[in-house]
Amino acid sequence: MTQDDASHALSALPEWQTLTQLADASASTLLKTRFQNDPNRAQCYSGDLGSLFVDYSKHHLDQDILDALLALADSAKLSEKLSAQRSGAAVNNTENRKASYPDLRQWASKTGSDPELANMYDKMPQLVDAVHSGKHTGTTGKAFTDVVNIGIGGSDFGPRLLCDALSNQGSTKLKAHFAANIDPSVISDILAQTPPETTLFLVASKSFGTQETRSNAEAAMAWLRAATGQQDISDHVIAITSKPSAAEAFGIKPSQILSVPEWIGGRFSVWSGFGLAVALYAGMDAFKDFLLGGHDVDQHVENTPLTDNIPVILGLLDVWYRNFWGYTSQAILPYEHRLGLLPTYLQQLFMESAGKSVDVNGNRLGTGTGNVIWGTEGTNGQHSFHQLLHQGGDAIPCDFITALRSYNPIADQHQALVANCFGQSLVLMNGQSAAEAEAELLSQGVPPEEAATLGKHKAMLGNKPSTTITMEMLTPRALGSLIALYEYRLFTASFIWNINPFDQWGVERGKQVSKLLMEGLSNGGAKDVDSSTAQLMQRFAKAQQ
Ligand code: F6P
Repeated sequence: MTQDDASHALSALPEWQTLTQLADASASTLLKTRFQNDPNRAQCYSGDLGSLFVDYSKHHLDQDILDALLALADSAKLSEKLSAQRSGAAVNNTENRKASYPDLRQWASKTGSDPELANMYDKMPQLVDAVHSGKHTGTTGKAFTDVVNIGIGGSDFGPRLLCDALSNQGSTKLKAHFAANIDPSVISDILAQTPPETTLFLVASKSFGTQETRSNAEAAMAWLRAATGQQDISDHVIAITSKPSAAEAFGIKPSQILSVPEWIGGRFSVWSGFGLAVALYAGMDAFKDFLLGGHDVDQHVENTPLTDNIPVILGLLDVWYRNFWGYTSQAILPYEHRLGLLPTYLQQLFMESAGKSVDVNGNRLGTGTGNVIWGTEGTNGQHSFHQLLHQGGDAIPCDFITALRSYNPIADQHQALVANCFGQSLVLMNGQSAAEAEAELLSQGVPPEEAATLGKHKAMLGNKPSTTITMEMLTPRALGSLIALYEYRLFTASFIWNINPFDQWGVERGKQVSKLLMEGLSNGGAKDVDSSTAQLMQRFAKAQQ
C-alpha cells in the first residue's frame, strides 16, 4: 500500500479499531453460550422481511458488536449512500450510471415517471399477451409452445432461476429453455428438443455484442430457416437489449425489440425486461408479484432504522466476518429444490460485484472485500461438503433457506427436509466435544480405549455461524423479497468498503482478450502472447488440420 492509499484505509478508522478489539474479545464467547445467557436471543435477532422471516441469532453478535458495526456504517455514510442510490445519483461512478433498482420494483404497485421504464413495462405485457393469446405466432401460424432464452451471465441466471423456482405456479404457459455457454453442445441439445414451428427465441443481451449470445442466436436462426424452409423467420425472435440498433442490425424486427435502459446492470436485470422469459413461462401476474416482493424489501430498507434493518444487518455481518474474523467463503444452502440455482445466481451477484481491490476513487484497498459464494440444495450437500462445514478447521458462514410448506407434499418428506435444514444449523453451532462423543461411545458399549480415540475424531468444534431464512411457501413474492434482500446485503457491505459494486472491468477485460485470441486461433497465432499461451494456440491449430 502506498502512503496515499494508506490515508484512505478503512482500517485507520477508530471504528475499525473498536471492531478489531471486539472480534478478539468475542472469539472466546461460544455461540451456544450466547443462547444460554439470553433466553430472548432468538426473538431479539430475527424479524419479518416482506414474505420472509430472517433469523440471524446464530451469529457472533451482541448489542456492543451491533453498535460498533453501526458506528462503522455511520462513518462510512451508509445511509447517505443508500439514499443516493435510491434517488438516482450516479453511484456507478466508473460508468456514470445510476443504480436505482427500487424504481423497477415499484412498477408492480404504481407506475413511475421515467419514460424509458414506462416504455419497457408497457411493452412487456403486450409482447407476453400477444404470445399467450396466439396473436403473435410463428411463421406457419401455430401458437408458440416453447421459449428459448439465449443470453449469458445476468441475461441468463436471473430468468433461469425464476423459471425453475416458479415451476409450481399454476399451469406454465410455455416451456422454457436456456442457452448460455458458447459450447456448441448447449444450443444443439436445445434445438434437438424444441419444435421449430412453435419455438420462440429471446435474444437477451444488454450490449448485443456478447460473443456467446450472438453465436447461439445465429445458430438458432439458421436452424429455424432450415427447419421451416422459410427465409424470414423474424416472427420467432424477440430481442431484449439496451442497444436496439444493434439488435435491428442483427435482423430483429423493431416491433420485437424490448428496450431496457442502459443503467440497469446485467446481474440486477431480472426485475426488468430481461425477465421476459419468466413472464412468458409463469405469466405476467407472477412476474409482477416478484416485483412486489422486491418492493416490500425496498420499503423495509427505506423505513426501518439501521439497527433493525435486516438486509443492512446481514450486510454488516458480512463485513464483520470478512474483515474481522478472516472468513473468505460463504455457503448458500437452499433446502428447497426449486431454489437449486440460487447459489449460482448469488455467485454472480456477489462475486462480480464485490470482487474489487480499489475503492470508488481508485485507491487500492488495504482490506479484503467479497467472498467466495458457493453451495447447493439441501440435503444433497449434507452427503458431501457439509463434512468440511462441520469438521473443517475454517468456519464458513452458512445461509439456510427453506419454505415451511411444500407444493408437492409426499408423506413426511417435506418435514424431513426442514428437520435436516434446522438440524444442520444447530449442529454447526453446538458442535460436540471429544468428551461428549466419548461418553456417547461408552454408553454404546465401545471399549474405553477405543472410545477415547474415536471421541477425538468425532469431536466437532461447533461455534459456526449461520442465518436461517424461511418463507411460508416459495411464491413469486417471497422470491422477490429473497433476491432483494441479497442485493441490499451486497450494497451494504460494498458501501462500507467504499467500492463500486455496479461495474465489472475484470470481466470486460476477459471478453476483450478472448476476442483477440479468437482472431489468433483462426489465423494461426496471436502476437504478443507468452510462450505458454502461444504453445496452447499452436496445439489447437494442429488439432484442426
Ligand atoms: O459477465 C459479464 C457481463 O457483463 C454481465 O454483467 C452480463 O450480465 C453478461 O456479461 C452478459 O452481457 P450482455 O447482456 O451484454 O450480453
